[in-house]
Amino acid sequence: MDSTGAFIDQTERFSAHNYAPLPVVISSGEGAWVTDVEGRRYLDCLAAYSALNFGHRHPAMVAAAHAQLDRLTLTSRAFGNDRLGEFCQRLAELAGKQMVLPMNTGAEAVESGIKVARAWGYRVKGVPDGRARIIVASGNFHGRTTTIVGFSSDPDARNGFGPFASGFDVVPYGDADALAAAITDETVAVLIEPIQGEAGVILPPDGYLARVRRITAEHDVLFIADEIQSGLGRTGATFECENAGVVPDLYLLGKALGAGIVPVSAVVGDAEVLGVLRPGEHGSTFGGNPLAAAVGIAVIGLLSTGEFQARARELGAHLARRLQGLLGHGVAQVRVRGLWAGVDVDPGLATGRRVCELLAGRGILAKETHGSTIRLAPPLVITEEELDLAADQFAAVLADLRGATRR
Ligand SMILES: Cc1ncc(COP(=O)(O)O)c(C=O)c1O
Repeated sequence: MDSTGAFIDQTERFSAHNYAPLPVVISSGEGAWVTDVEGRRYLDCLAAYSALNFGHRHPAMVAAAHAQLDRLTLTSRAFGNDRLGEFCQRLAELAGKQMVLPMNTGAEAVESGIKVARAWGYRVKGVPDGRARIIVASGNFHGRTTTIVGFSSDPDARNGFGPFASGFDVVPYGDADALAAAITDETVAVLIEPIQGEAGVILPPDGYLARVRRITAEHDVLFIADEIQSGLGRTGATFECENAGVVPDLYLLGKALGAGIVPVSAVVGDAEVLGVLRPGEHGSTFGGNPLAAAVGIAVIGLLSTGEFQARARELGAHLARRLQGLLGHGVAQVRVRGLWAGVDVDPGLATGRRVCELLAGRGILAKETHGSTIRLAPPLVITEEELDLAADQFAAVLADLRGATRR
């Protein structure tokens, strides 16, 4: 058996079957490129769902991690450490907010945001205890915990995992009138993705986020923006909310905050909201650890220059032009914001999975989502020539599939 097969076999035998990865086994990576165990190189056009916005092993990120590894990695929050304060201050300043609640994974940031919103509802807004409600959008993806999948509209995420927590109202994504109509005196927050990544890079209608901001402000309801995938440079701004000209009450961040090196997530907001938490009410053994904080500080340093946001804007415009050229050639619709694209392949041509298999065969790694949609989110360090390579290979895959259907 070749070594790819052996690694896959071992993983299949001994790991739970909660994923069905493409048959590519990666052993090293640098920038926008990875190499598999056979020595084949691939252009990474997924970037671990935007966790690798700055590419594989960005030298400054690796240096920050190494330096911290040589000094101190974990204290727990029973004691202080000399990196956490700087991380929180710099992240709060980046977001224009006052406080940070550090966690590890995206789902933890979402759970933490839900707890903070409920506590704020009871302690500040005056909602009767146990009655708080949170409005979410259909098609959402906020993670995999039982509370979160309980308000998912994806049967694969929910089915078989109940009973679920109550207190959530689902409204259609992009419909501000439906959202306004769902608000009651017990509503404490609206939790939405400014762009729905997992759903297929779904962009809301123009003006939607601004209306959500107005409606929530008018009703004394918190606006929680899950920018775990859309934030930190991907969409051509530090936050997608910035592109929409809105400032939410809470940002939920994750993925790229750890530079693909360590899991780092955070809830970022003002003291009036995040300040409701009291000692002992929430926490995490690893949240705010010095290694995560050191990497997070380095990430904030990269974002502070604006270089990556500008790259996402400029390269994104190029990617959009290239993908629009595929419309009518096997592609039905393209949605692009920054360096992030959802490409709807004609479902009659192939499944998204098949397209990704063929792309991998041509040295391009991408990921399907829901049927025939392909999601492209290459590292922001990718070059225009490399984007052209990806677009050329995409076109070649579609041409092959169209040729095969005609035969
Ligand atoms: C918008 C959004 N929120 C939350 C999450 C969950 O993050 P994690 O997988 O780190 O728990 C994801 C992951 O894809 C996401 O895209």
